[in-house]
Parts: sequence; C-alpha cells; structure tokens
Amino acid sequence: MSQGSAPLTSRPEWQALKSHKAELENTHMRDLFRDDPDRASRFFISGGGLSLDYSRNRMTDDTIAGLMALARSCGVPERTAAMFRGDHINVTEKRPALHVALRGSSGDPILVDGTNITPEVEHTLDRMEQFVDDVLSKRWQGHTGKPFTDVVSIGIGGSFLGPKLVSEALRPYWHGQLNCHYVANIDGTQIAEVLRRVNPETTLFLIQSKSFRTQETLENSKVARAWFLDNGGSEDQIAKHFVAVTANTPEAVNFGISEDNIFPMWDWVGGRYSLWSAIGLPVALTIGMKNFRALLAGANGMDQHFRNAPLEQNLPVVMAMLGLWYNNFWGAETYTILPYDHYLRSLPAHLQQLDMESNGKSVTQNGEPLTCHSGPVIWGGVGANGQHAFHQLLHQGTRLIPADFIIPLETHNQVACHHVTLFANCLSQSRALMSGKTLDEARAELKAEGMNADDIDKLAPHKVIPGNKPSNTLLMDKSTPETVGALIALYEHRTFVQGIIWDVDSFDQWGVELGKQMGKGILDRLTGDSAGGDGPIDSSTDHLIRIFRSHHSS
Ligand code: F6P
Repeated sequence: MSQGSAPLTSRPEWQALKSHKAELENTHMRDLFRDDPDRASRFFISGGGLSLDYSRNRMTDDTIAGLMALARSCGVPERTAAMFRGDHINVTEKRPALHVALRGSSGDPILVDGTNITPEVEHTLDRMEQFVDDVLSKRWQGHTGKPFTDVVSIGIGGSFLGPKLVSEALRPYWHGQLNCHYVANIDGTQIAEVLRRVNPETTLFLIQSKSFRTQETLENSKVARAWFLDNGGSEDQIAKHFVAVTANTPEAVNFGISEDNIFPMWDWVGGRYSLWSAIGLPVALTIGMKNFRALLAGANGMDQHFRNAPLEQNLPVVMAMLGLWYNNFWGAETYTILPYDHYLRSLPAHLQQLDMESNGKSVTQNGEPLTCHSGPVIWGGVGANGQHAFHQLLHQGTRLIPADFIIPLETHNQVACHHVTLFANCLSQSRALMSGKTLDEARAELKAEGMNADDIDKLAPHKVIPGNKPSNTLLMDKSTPETVGALIALYEHRTFVQGIIWDVDSFDQWGVELGKQMGKGILDRLTGDSAGGDGPIDSSTDHLIRIFRSHHSS
C-alpha cells in the first residue's frame, strides 16, 4: 500500500514540523528541563519489559504531537495492521514480511496466500526442540560415538548477525555442554581459525542460508565438508555432522545434506529478521530450547505492545519518529547505538544490517524518487569503551549525532563496584551530551583552578561543550532471554515505522545484488577463467586485477 501521489515533504504535517523546527532551533534542552520539573517523568514510557526515557530530546509536547500527526497521516496504524495480517507489504518481492508470526500469535490463523502458516511454524519449533534435545541428551552423536562439544554455524548477513548477537547476549544462559562458533566471511582466515580449534569427531556444522546460493556460505561449507572428510569422516557420516537451515531444500540436498537434516525457512521471512526461525538454532543449541522460547516470548511481548499501544505511548513509534525528526528536519546523517552491557556488544552490528539494509533506499514503493533522506548511517559501540574513543566527537564535533543508550539495571556479574560505575558512566554521558558546558562555566572552572586571565582567554573556548545533543535511554531489568528478545523486536519495529513514513520497501535489498553480480565476472578474470568475456571493465578494476595476477604468477 503506498501513500498516493502527494510527496511526503509536501504534506501539511511535514510542513508543520518544518516550521516547528525553525521555532525550536535556538531552544536549549537545558532550558526545557529548567522550565519543566516533570519533563523526565512525562517523557518516560514502558512496554514489553523495556522502559524508555526520551526526555533528552530537542522536543516539546508540540513536537510529539506533530510527529504523531505525521505518523497517522502516513498510515502507521493501518500498515502495522497490514504487516500482522500478512499482507504483501514487501511489494517489490510480492510477499508478506511475517517475522512476527515466528514468535507467537494470538491463536488466530495467519494466512499467507490463503494458507495458515502457524501450524508449520509450530511444527518447526517442535522439530528444533527434538533436535536440541537429541544433541544435548547425546542421542545424536558424532560419527565415532562421541557427544558433540562444538557447533559451527556457517552463514552471513542475517543468517549470522542476529544469532551471533543473541548467543553473546545470553552467554549467562549457556548450559556449557556446547561451544558455539560463527563463520561468515569469505576471508579464509575465519574458517581456518575456527577449524583449528575444533575436533572433527565432536563438531556439528549448521549451514545457515535462506537462499542456499550465497557464495561466502557455500564456499565455507565446502571447506568444512572437505575438512571433515580429510579428518576421519566419510560421505555417509556427513548426515551426522551437517545440518542446514534453508528455504531452498533442493540445493541443500544437492550439496549433500540429508533431507531429514534440513530445517525450513520461508520466503515471508527476510534474512535480517530470521533469527527467530530455525536460523536461531545455534542459539537454541547453546542456551536450550526453553530459553529460546523465552526469547521468542519477549519479542512477542514487544509485538503486542507495538500493535496495541497508542502511538504516543508506543516505544518503537516514539523512537522511530524521534530518529526521523533528527534525520529529516535537523540534518543528522548518522545515528549511534551505545549498549552499556558487554553482553550486547554486537547489537550495533546487527542493527546496522537491520536498519541500513531495510531503509537504505532511494525510491518509494511506487518507484518515485524520495524527496527527503531515508535511513541514516547506523553505527555504535559498547559503553564505556566508546567514551575513550569516539564520544569526543559526539560532545564537541560539528555534527549532530543522536544516540541510544541501552543499559540493564542489574548485571549478571557483580564484580566489585563495576556495575554502579558503569551506570554512572552511562548517565554522565547522556547528561553531558544534553547539558554541555557554557563559556562562562568553563571560565569560572579555570579561574577556580587558579589560572591567570590570559590563559583563561586562550583555553576556555576549547573547554566549551555545546550540549543540546539528543539521546534516548533504554532500560531493562537485566539482559535475559525475554528482554533481549523485546529489545531486538523494538528496533525491528522502529525500522519498519520509519520505512512507512518514507514509503520505502523495508523488506527488499536490491542494492546488494549488483556487487554479487559483478563479483562473478571479476573472480573469473582474477583466476584467468575469463579474459573479459563478460564485457568491458573500468581501468581501475582492470589495473588492480593485473597487479593481483602478476603478484600470483611469480
Ligand atoms: O547480503 C545480502 C543478503 O541477501 C542478506 O539480506 C542476507 O541476510 C544475507 O545476504 C544472507 O543470505 P542467505 O541467508 O540467503 O545466505
């Protein structure tokens, strides 16, 4: 469903926000806090087990009203309902985006082209449960009768980032029976390093590829299979050590995976939304199926919040609209994700794919050029490490970079006074970003230190911190399967809402295809299999190919 012919930026709601931004331009958040003692409690909402303090934003009640008016006029409630209903919201690929169906439904059937998909989803979860149980109870063992000690998950993009994030995030829930390793890159170093650390008799390989056509995954899987065969395994024992998750069963069978060892994927689940499917198997194997189901339940809790909470109280909607506010009205080009939790250190990488592959688009669903920017650059890093690396630019650089601080109230590892110190760091960063330091404050500080007037004049401008830098703070009690599930689902819906406003297809990724297409021709030229049969090539690429070839011919 697209929004009709009026460009987004001509809508009255958009124009009203533009004027409102001009009015707010010279207002400092310090003053907003000073004038409203209730600001923190008024701009604080909860849902799905998470709480959001969004008071440290360049906004007033009018801003929120204006952003929600835009959300309504772009059809956020209707398009949310369409997603949950299973409409073909992925318009360019003519299919639904139903990752929400993987984490529990209301019990009502969810129809994809007339077929109820919930029985198949539940059946797959039961199969996963059986498989995890067989491996953990040692009914399913390696070819020499030894129990498995290691799982190697081979996959890339969405078939890698989500499971890796969750494995790390839920490290305290690992039962300890299995180690889990991930191989994604076509850089042979990665698989070489992993294979050096595992034993062919006790290693289970999961080949994770929705398409079963991804070059990196297929090449790494071939290496794993050859390594297994070269180290005591035989062809008929491959079935004991190789399992696949894919929507392309024929190719997986072709590769040599037994049909019984193939878990399904569906074309109505996008790669970057797939960790909730059997692509989550490395997670389920290491934390157990009970915890994996708790992860799904947490995500489902956020789904229900997103579906039912009024827009003004809705975490994904509020976060989406504030992100859009800075992107489209204040010129912010990037957005930073700052988890203050070591277990969540891979969240920025996962959200990078989720958001940038979803909303890195230039045309509307009807193919019209966008009249404003779509998704920003997403980046980030774990707190407090970032404070000693890139936060300087957040505080005093010339760019506006909104930030999400994410921190649990409790830690799994009570070490000395670390957690309270970490919490203090998180709060001091968001406070410093908001309030900054004025020239007068800088001068007074230096004077109090006993500095002379000349030196104060020289140094004080360098110590000014403008402040007024926006941030959100997301709280959870602890990183548990439920809260981690809710957190990831929150960002999925945030991404979806922004895509609705820009009217892009957040579920396709055509841009990735060109590099893949060109890669084949270049590989052939590098290996000498083609001297240019695939057409002319630019001189820079040609020059670099020659350097590579001449280096390897000597
Ligand atoms: O990089 C593009 C992409 O298509 C992602 O969307 C996807 O998650 C990844 O490749 C892996 O794809 P597959 O699971 O089909 O191997």
